[in-house]
Amino acid sequence: MDRKTILIFCYTLFTAASVCPGFGQGLLQNLGARDKQCLDGLWQIIIDPLEYGMYTHSYKLKKNGYFLNEKAENSFDRIEYDFDGGYQLYVPGDWNTQMEKLYYYEGTIWYKRSFDALGDTNGRKRLYFEGVNYQCRVYLNGEFLGDHEGGFLPFSFDITNKLKAQDNFIVLKVDNTRQKDGIPTINFDWWNYGGITRSVHIVNLPDTYINDYYLSLVKGTKKKIEGWVKLEGDNVVAQDVMINVPELNIHEKIKTDKNGLASFTLSSEPELWSPDHPKLYEIEIASAEEKLTDHIGFKTIEVRDNDILLNGQTVFLKGISIHEEAPFGVGRVITAEQAATLLTWAKELGCNFIRLAHYPHNEFTVKLAEKMGLMVWSEIPVYWTVNYTNESTYKSAENQLIQMIDRDKNRAGVILWSVANETPVIPERLEFLRKLIQKARAKDQTRLITAALNTQRGEDNNIIIDDPLGEYIDVIGINSYCGWYGKRPAECRDLVWKNTFNKPIIMSEMGGGALAGMHGTKDDRWTEEYQAEVYECNLDMLKKIDFLAGTSPWILMDFRSPRRNLLRIQNDYNRKGLISENGEKKKAFFVLKDFYDHHQSKNKANHSQER
Ligand code: GCU
Repeated sequence: MDRKTILIFCYTLFTAASVCPGFGQGLLQNLGARDKQCLDGLWQIIIDPLEYGMYTHSYKLKKNGYFLNEKAENSFDRIEYDFDGGYQLYVPGDWNTQMEKLYYYEGTIWYKRSFDALGDTNGRKRLYFEGVNYQCRVYLNGEFLGDHEGGFLPFSFDITNKLKAQDNFIVLKVDNTRQKDGIPTINFDWWNYGGITRSVHIVNLPDTYINDYYLSLVKGTKKKIEGWVKLEGDNVVAQDVMINVPELNIHEKIKTDKNGLASFTLSSEPELWSPDHPKLYEIEIASAEEKLTDHIGFKTIEVRDNDILLNGQTVFLKGISIHEEAPFGVGRVITAEQAATLLTWAKELGCNFIRLAHYPHNEFTVKLAEKMGLMVWSEIPVYWTVNYTNESTYKSAENQLIQMIDRDKNRAGVILWSVANETPVIPERLEFLRKLIQKARAKDQTRLITAALNTQRGEDNNIIIDDPLGEYIDVIGINSYCGWYGKRPAECRDLVWKNTFNKPIIMSEMGGGALAGMHGTKDDRWTEEYQAEVYECNLDMLKKIDFLAGTSPWILMDFRSPRRNLLRIQNDYNRKGLISENGEKKKAFFVLKDFYDHHQSKNKANHSQER
């Protein structure tokens, strides 16, 4: 198949895959550039643990559920709920940290937002959610629009001709109950923050609009740019689209086919994006009815033996893992400023890489990382013991993978898509992940596929990496807690690691806990001295691993988890952060910073020539 056919084939996979059956419509590429009405702010809520707003006492679906937002019209009417005059929650935001009584709440909360339409109500409109955890049903003016599962990616519904000039209301039934067949499943080590945790918009679109686009270097070159643009609408006809990259003197007119798809390949040699030179080009995509501006970087990422090569040069990933938890204990990250605090801490640490654990973070975080010169590991929450034999579980994982790649495929900073974290070595898991990896490669041939494993085998002081999943991924992440979940810190220096794959290894997790401000000897667990010793000894161990391509220790900042019940020290927090939730840098922060500041990225390219 020639490239154009391949490209159209790949796009068919995109569209076939990215609009999920039974789900709301997919993503709009580059939401930030679009004309929209923001619905963030205070929404009225009803806490409904028995889902009485949905089901009768005999658990039959109600015709007059809370989604109708009915009001008593006279003194006789019996309406046993009212959104107005009750509780309220901010959107975006998790409910756990907004109301004391919702701190541990898992279940259904109904949200309602009344609003007048901004501008004309006739044009094409899309009701767009950047993220709702975990599953939701969406209603507009009492009409069911659709549902969505998955807590960390965008989804949307066409609401053209459904808006009134005034007095519209949106109702969501949001349920964060952990699902045995969900992605993630019922057990995980982070707080189950529920709610409309990301922003909500009404997007105004022209009749024929730019739904999605993609630009990247052609794999294996630095002198060709390829991409595609996809128009959508009721009567998409073949038409001209302009691709403008002024700084590269690109002003390319391309023609869409009758399905609205146009692909292109251009000769151009852009300055390459890297942590030291996070170069982004302003691009403009203009159709007859719409013009979108974005900022795109160009880079190549590949592996060669045990090395990761960025733009053809060996790079050592000096990273840190990050949960999407805001500093100062206020719950989920909801603003770019909060993300900036976390990423600035990572830069202070000397990082060129961040592992966004264990689920896709806000889009603004990925964009900020790209601007700040931080390479990104992005991950779907196939975490621990998901139900590997359940088809709907697999479909949920695949949908989240597709939506993650769709949303961030234009972000130069993203170098790794991760399909799993600490999954068991059983046949059904291998098959489940093999299919996910195949899907990821079908969607994106320009990035590396990885997973974090904790299946290395210890034989005395020999640690052997031979998980069969290693065959299918490009880069192997290893989670190892020597000195915390086993052995004393000093014993870590004696470990000898054996990599049975000729592939790069990243120490994707290591570390230990400490309560900021708690001091003692390096033998006293939970003190800053003990945590610093864990880092000293593990970093000495890493220095001996010549096939190591990087590390992203666990974790930048203390984060909430209901598994952490040592009240006087943890108080619902996992204390492995190098920084406390109040921004206090622990001694171990400076140990890792020193390692990164003095780490010389061996230019293995020359070294390999000597071999
Ligand atoms: C695991 C897991 C993390 C968890 C960490 C810990 O490796 O990947 O999600 O928080 O260990 O136990 O602190």
